[in-house]
Amino acid sequence: MSIITVETADRIAWLTINRPEKLNALNAEVLKELECAFAGLEHDPAVGVVVVTGSGEKAFVAGADIAELKDLDSASARRVALSGQAVFERIERMPKPVIAMVNGFALGGGCELALACHVRVASENARFGLPEVSLGIIPGYGGTQRLPRLVGKGVALDMILSAEMVGSADALRMGLVSRVFPQAELKAGTEKLAKTLLTRGPLAQAHALTAVHQGLEMPLDKGLQFEAALFGLLATSEDMKEGMGAFLEKRPAQFKGR
Ligand code: COA
Repeated sequence: MSIITVETADRIAWLTINRPEKLNALNAEVLKELECAFAGLEHDPAVGVVVVTGSGEKAFVAGADIAELKDLDSASARRVALSGQAVFERIERMPKPVIAMVNGFALGGGCELALACHVRVASENARFGLPEVSLGIIPGYGGTQRLPRLVGKGVALDMILSAEMVGSADALRMGLVSRVFPQAELKAGTEKLAKTLLTRGPLAQAHALTAVHQGLEMPLDKGLQFEAALFGLLATSEDMKEGMGAFLEKRPAQFKGR
């Protein structure tokens, strides 16, 4: 891999997109490397949480690479959207928590990348937006689908149709991010969150991710049945015995993920 770096320490994989001279814009190479990196991280037993971020002070990811998009014909534009969507779907389906650590501009494909992650945290200088309609296109890596599911149709349509950016205070208010840190504290705050996530039951987290993602696509009664089925499955796990035993014995749980 030449553009993406992954550094793992204490079971946290820090995945950084390194193209700061182009504000970490997503070209075909970055998308291929993202796919590859997540394929490895999914099955890496040394990794319990993934943090995705962009290099430099200025940008998380400033979008899909406009230079690569400008000459696409209809069939290839559709293919580009589908293949970007597939990469982001893989991220969303990761069975371990994925945090987007948004350290600056998260625009277009960058905002969509953050939307595909499970938790979004941001620095006070972060800016979010879907500027596609100002380029004569629409978001194509899931933005028209994930943003309204996350923040509601009204706010999502405002962002999509106006193409205006919002700052992290507004992003927090609308539920686009769940935590905001001063710029100098972003990494430490994210690491603290990641370490907290690592103390929880990994099998339970994987099932919670499945329950929320798949359940949101079901009518409520089916979603509730699905939740109960996963709840039942977890009752057979060693992790459940350990979690409850540790509580009753007043000691920290040592989960094994089985
Ligand atoms: N695709 C390709 N290149 C991009 C890019 C993108 N999405 N976003 C930024 N860049 C490049 C710029 O072309 C510039 O390259 P250059 O130095 O070779 O000219 C470099 O990154 C720095 O960006 P620049 O525009 O000079 O920085 P800025 O501080 O003036 O503005 C932004 C920052 C984020 C407001 C501006 O870069 C921007 O609007 N980017 C495009 C955002 C967008 O529309 N994304 C959706 C794409 S579908």
